[in-house]
Amino acid sequence: MEIRHHIIHQLADGRFHSGEELAEQCGISRAAVWKHIQALKDGLQMEIHSVRGKGYRLERALELLAEEEILAAMTVQGRDRLRLLDLHHEIDSTNGYLLRQSVNGGASGHACIAERQTAGRGRRGRRWISPYGSNIYLSILWRFPSGPAQLGGLSLAAGLSVVRSLGKLGLEGIGLKWPNDVLWKGRKLAGLLLEVAGEVDGPSRVVLGLGLNVALRARDGEEIDQPWADLREVSGGQELSRNQLAGQLLSGLLDSLARYEQEGLAPWVADWSHYDLYHGKPVTLSMGDRKIEGVHRGIDASGALLLERQGEISTYHGGEVSLRPAAP
Ligand code: BTN
Repeated sequence: MEIRHHIIHQLADGRFHSGEELAEQCGISRAAVWKHIQALKDGLQMEIHSVRGKGYRLERALELLAEEEILAAMTVQGRDRLRLLDLHHEIDSTNGYLLRQSVNGGASGHACIAERQTAGRGRRGRRWISPYGSNIYLSILWRFPSGPAQLGGLSLAAGLSVVRSLGKLGLEGIGLKWPNDVLWKGRKLAGLLLEVAGEVDGPSRVVLGLGLNVALRARDGEEIDQPWADLREVSGGQELSRNQLAGQLLSGLLDSLARYEQEGLAPWVADWSHYDLYHGKPVTLSMGDRKIEGVHRGIDASGALLLERQGEISTYHGGEVSLRPAAP
């Protein structure tokens, strides 16, 4: 794989590189370069053009993830809270990786980011489409002294942290759908997956994973089973630096984890409601085969969903919310 990564680094500038040049740089034959290029096209689904007499070129220049640039984009406090940053070209799942680390003594504040996931996981057993070099796949391991039951509101705090970080970049119209979907114009822009393990009375450990669509190709988007958006569209075609984004999101999320550990959800509730896109709307809450209809009345202090039905408000801790079309 090393040679392939080397080739990707050469091609990342979006210019032509001859087979001869790549062969020399990698210390392999031109025929071997050709084979690696085919593997990048077939295995990683990279769009590589080859033109006789000119060589190989990526369809679009790529900003590859770089540790120094991510660290440079972080706040001082964020860097303080970060114990270790693992950067992978390719991994099954950044969440899966940190869960494995967590049983082997992985430190609180260990983060992992990847260019591509081969088995990216979404909530409710879904897949998270994770093509190479185009989005952000980021996970953080955090250890809490309390038991898992105290962590019910953490995913809401994390969602809010992502929306705030994106807001600071001047991106507008991004909001939340309970518990932690990040949406733009009703379409999914980012998702969070929290995987929690531990003793009932503590301690517990959480792997918090964020998937953010930055610039998805239409053909990758076709594999997503729900309406989606990416930051390129939100920003009106502007190319955003993934390293900058990763650094800022990482700082924000590390801050949320540390703050949640001290104060729980309380400091987040009012602001969460401010970004709640479904507040006051008719919704359906799906829990397995059960469907409950009501009006979305926001969240309570623990982060549970409040649904109004026949004038009464009930709280719900799980399930999936969808908007109900207004009655004709
Ligand atoms: C969702 O379904 O809304 C949650 C998606 C979470 C995806 C991210 S990508 C980084 C991390 N690693 C994974 O395998 N999943 C999460």
